[in-house]
Amino acid sequence: MTQSPGQGQALDNLLTESRTFPPSDEFAAQANAKPELYEEAKADREAFWAKQAERLHWDTKWTQVLDWSNAPFAKWFVGGKLNVAYNCVDRHVESGHGDQVAIHWEGEPGDSRAITYGELQREVSKAANALASLGIGAEDRVAIYMPMVPEAIFAMLACARLGAMHSVVFGGFSAEALRTRIEDSSCKLVITTDGQYRRGNPAPLKPAVDEAVAGAPSVEKVLVVKRTNTEVAWTDKDVWWHELVDAQSDQHTPEAFDSEHPLFILYTSGTTGKPKGILHTSGGYLTQASYTHHNVFDLKPDTDVYWCTADIGWVTGHSYIVYGPLSNRVTQVVYEGTPNTPHEGRHWEIVQKYGVSIYYTAPTLIRTFMKWGADIPAKYDLSSLRVLGSVGEPINPEAWIWYRENVGGGKTPIVDTWWQTETGAIMISPLPGVVSTKPGSAQRPLPGIGAKVVNDEGVEVPHGGGGYLVLDEPWPSMLRGIWGDEERYRDTYWSRFAEQGFYFAGDGAKYDDDGDIWLLGRVDDVMNVSGHRISTTEVESALVSHPTVAEAAVVGASDATTGQGIVAFVILRGGAGSDAGGAEAIKALRDHVAKEIGPIAKPRQIMVVPELPKTRSGKIMRRLLRDVAENRAVGDVTTLADSSVMDLISAGLQSGKSED
Ligand code: WTA
Repeated sequence: MTQSPGQGQALDNLLTESRTFPPSDEFAAQANAKPELYEEAKADREAFWAKQAERLHWDTKWTQVLDWSNAPFAKWFVGGKLNVAYNCVDRHVESGHGDQVAIHWEGEPGDSRAITYGELQREVSKAANALASLGIGAEDRVAIYMPMVPEAIFAMLACARLGAMHSVVFGGFSAEALRTRIEDSSCKLVITTDGQYRRGNPAPLKPAVDEAVAGAPSVEKVLVVKRTNTEVAWTDKDVWWHELVDAQSDQHTPEAFDSEHPLFILYTSGTTGKPKGILHTSGGYLTQASYTHHNVFDLKPDTDVYWCTADIGWVTGHSYIVYGPLSNRVTQVVYEGTPNTPHEGRHWEIVQKYGVSIYYTAPTLIRTFMKWGADIPAKYDLSSLRVLGSVGEPINPEAWIWYRENVGGGKTPIVDTWWQTETGAIMISPLPGVVSTKPGSAQRPLPGIGAKVVNDEGVEVPHGGGGYLVLDEPWPSMLRGIWGDEERYRDTYWSRFAEQGFYFAGDGAKYDDDGDIWLLGRVDDVMNVSGHRISTTEVESALVSHPTVAEAAVVGASDATTGQGIVAFVILRGGAGSDAGGAEAIKALRDHVAKEIGPIAKPRQIMVVPELPKTRSGKIMRRLLRDVAENRAVGDVTTLADSSVMDLISAGLQSGKSED
C-alpha cells in the first residue's frame, strides 16, 4: 500500500486548511448519482420523492406523496400498499436473480455460508410460517436478541413479511436492558441464540433472555437458534428454531400492508433515563433506505460486493445491512465477529477473500486500525475497494486521510454519512462522483433533504458560523414517533424550534466558507462512545443503584479511540467502608454498570469526589466536570451554588486513587 510522502505534515495542515478531493473522471462517468439530482429535487421535492418510491414494488399505488397536515406526524405515499420483505427478497427471485448471492456470511470461528436470493426467500418464508404458527401477526412486537448470524436477518424479514414489528436489542446489552425494552413495547416473542462467539470463545446468551423473560409477562414464547452448542436451561416457553422453522413449508404468500404500517421499533438513548422506542413505518422508510443506499454507496448490484460492518442491533444494521441493500439486490458480506479475531487483519482478509468493493464502517474502528498500524492492511490485496463510508460520529481529518490512504489506496471517495436512528436513513453526505470530498465533513444534505445550521433563535447562521443542526422539511424515513409517548416525541424533537417547525437533531454543527456542513458532536447529555449513543442519565442511574453510591455524575470526555469515553464522578454513601474508593470497589462499580446496561456503558474512569458542582437550581454542571475529565483548566464557575466545590474536587483528585 502506498503512503503519500510527507503525510504527517499534510495532516497538521488539515486542521486549519480545507483540502478537497475531487472525484476522478472515471468514477464520475459511471456514478449512479449525477449533479442533476440536486436540481431535480429542488425543482419539485414531492415529485422527486415520488420518483424515488418507484424503486419499489407497490401492490397499490399511493394517491398522495406527503400528508403533513398532522405535523409532526408525517404520512408518506398515502394510500399505497407494499410488502417490505417482498421488496427485499422475492422480487429479485422473480426477476431471475434467484442464484445471485445475497449474503456471504462469515462466522467468527471461520465457518462460512453463501446465501442466494432463492435460499433467502425460502428461509424467510419458513421463518414467517413458523412465527405465524406461534400466533404472531400484524402489529405484534417481536424482540430479536441475537449475534450476527443469518437467522437474525431471516427473523427481521419474517416479521416484516407478516406485518409484525421487530425490536432488535443489541446482543451486548444486559438482561435488565433487554427486559425494559421487551416490557416497554409488550413483546410476545423473543428470538435469540444459545450463545455467541466473542473474541474466539463461545459465550452464553440465552441466560440473559431467561432472566429478562422471568420479569416480562408479555412474552409467550422464546425461539432459540443453536449457534454455539452451549448447554442451556430450558423452560416451557422455549422452542428450538431448527425444530420449528425447519419443519415449515418454504412457501409463503406475502400480504401487502399500508405504506404507514409500522415496520419496527428501535430503542435509543435520550437525555432522560428511559430509552426511547423509535418507531419506523414501511413505504417511506424503505424508499429512503433504498434511494440513499443506491446513490451514496454507488451500488451496482451485478458487480459490487458490499460490506457494512455494523451490528443489526443498531440502526445502521437495519437500514444498511437489511433494508436498503437487500431492496437494491446487493451481494453483501455479513461478518459475525470482532475485528481482531483471530488476528488484527481479519477485516482485510475478508475484503480480499470476497473482493469487497464498498466498505462502510465507523470512525472508532478506523482509529483502532490506525493504532494497530498501517502495515496490517498493507499485507492484503485491497484493490477491489472503490467506495468507503463512515458513520456514527464525527470523523477527524487524520483518520479520514489514513482511511483513504491505507484502505482506499489513495483513490477511493469517502462518504461521511450523517444520520440518526430517528432519521432512519442517511441525510447528509457527499454524493460520490458528484461532490469533491473534504476530510472530516459530511458536507451537504442529500437531494430531497432539508437541513440547516441555525442559531439560538432558529435563524440560519452565515457561512463560517456555527450553531445547531436542524431538519427543516419532513423526509420519507423520518420517525413516526416514540412508542407509547406522543408527548415525549414532541418535546424531544419539535419543541426547541417549535415556532419554525424544525426538527432538532441534538447535534452542533458549523458551515465552512463554502457552506459545507461540519458536525461538532452532541449538544445534549448524550455521549457517543464508539458510535453508540449512551445517555449520561442512564449510567448515573445504574451507578446510584449500587449500595455504596450516594450520587453520581457522568460525562463524555474526548477519547482518542472511541470518540468519547465515559467518565463518572461518584459520591460514596456515608456508611460505605473505608475501602469503598479502592481499586476493588471501583472495579465492582464498573461491573455493576455493565450488568445494568451492558459492557459498552462501563465507565472508562470513575473518580470518587466529596461533592458535585451544581447550579442553584440543583442541575449538575457537566461542563465543569468535562473540563476535569479532559484535564483542562476549569471554566466559568460563577453560576455554581458553591464555587469552592471545584477546588475540592481537584484537590481530591490530586490525592490519587481515582483511576482503575
Ligand atoms: C452522531 C447512527 C458526525 C450524531 C446512524 C447523531 C454523526 C448520532 C455522524 C446518531 C457523522 C452519526 N458525523 N456525527 N457522520 N453519524 N453521528 O442514532 O451525534 O446511533 O446525532 O445513529 O450519531 O446516532 P444513532
